[in-house]
Amino acid sequence: MSSISSPAPASVSPGAPPVRTVAIVGAGLIGSSWAAFFLAHGFDVVATDPAPGAEERLRAFVDRVWPTLETLGLTPGASRDRLRFTADLADAVRGADFIQENGPEVLAAKRALLQAVTAAARPDTIIASSTSGFTMSALQEGCTHPERCVIGHPFNPPHLLPLVEVVGGQATSPAVVDAAMAFYTSLGKRAIRLHREVPGHVANRLQAALWREAVHLVAEGVASVTDVDAAVTAGPGARWALMGPHLILHLGGGAGGMHHFMHHLSGPFTTWWKDLGNPELTPELRERLIAGVLEEAGGRSIEALSAQRDAGLLAVLRCPQREA
Ligand SMILES: NC(=O)c1ccc[n+]([C@@H]2O[C@H](COP(=O)([O-])OP(=O)(O)OC[C@H]3O[C@@H](n4cnc5c(N)ncnc54)[C@H](O)[C@@H]3O)[C@@H](O)[C@H]2O)c1
Repeated sequence: MSSISSPAPASVSPGAPPVRTVAIVGAGLIGSSWAAFFLAHGFDVVATDPAPGAEERLRAFVDRVWPTLETLGLTPGASRDRLRFTADLADAVRGADFIQENGPEVLAAKRALLQAVTAAARPDTIIASSTSGFTMSALQEGCTHPERCVIGHPFNPPHLLPLVEVVGGQATSPAVVDAAMAFYTSLGKRAIRLHREVPGHVANRLQAALWREAVHLVAEGVASVTDVDAAVTAGPGARWALMGPHLILHLGGGAGGMHHFMHHLSGPFTTWWKDLGNPELTPELRERLIAGVLEEAGGRSIEALSAQRDAGLLAVLRCPQREA
């Protein structure tokens, strides 16, 4: 769990100045959640976003999730008053000791944003991008001191979910990857290190693989959107919250564990692999999926569903039986 216990300030690497100020570049869904997370860990947070009303939305988000963060336990000195907002990107990043970038997932915009951030930041400040799918090699071209740019990909919502995927690009210093791993870990995150870059990193590729088949099953009329979702939440999803897809199969092998599973039970899975779908998201299929999700939501607002998710996540993350 992203338990809030480590005292700020933390350093990003031995010998580096302690991190006191974190800059949040892009304060939409993910940036706001990161801002709340870093505030709860006792940092000064400076956020920047050019969108009209961004500051109000950010502060409203932090206010909404603060009680949950209080439940988890705030680092001494943590305060919402330590959030500063500026529309001026250079002003936001100039004094930062660590920068978390959360701009739109558009390659050209992301590159331009990282170039502007790296030009204005101190030359040694680590810049972690939340990008869901771009590789750092694709992003860091043209950056000032690209060796301090790294992927730090969270899972939504970062103020609660522990996962951060860390990987550098071709120009990234291995020491920066180490430092980012250490920094996130010191804050209670479950950081995983990718040994090489792949589009979508690890977790989103897993999510994409499952969603592809879920869409295929709806498209083929095998089950409704609601029932496909229930096939995850009432079944494997409940187990996956506790143990990952490999460890859980160790139990599927009974007393013989994974060894027995591999030798006697993996066959059907590989047969199903060959039958998995590769749907095309046609306009008609998109509309069916949207209609199916709205029916499943049953009139509950995004805010109500988010609150329901966060309350449940809190319980799951506090479960002592959870692995990792
Ligand atoms: N939504 C998710 O579930 C999720 C999960 C993990 C990572 N991410 C990644 O996080 C990043 C942000 O995604 P999001 O879902 O928060 O999107 P979002 O649209 O909610 O937020 C993006 C924000 O960036 C701002 N922005 C645009 N230009 C900017 C600039 N020049 N400087 C600063 N801010 C600027 C926009 O005004 C907007 O508020 C993306 O890279 C995305 O892939 C998203």
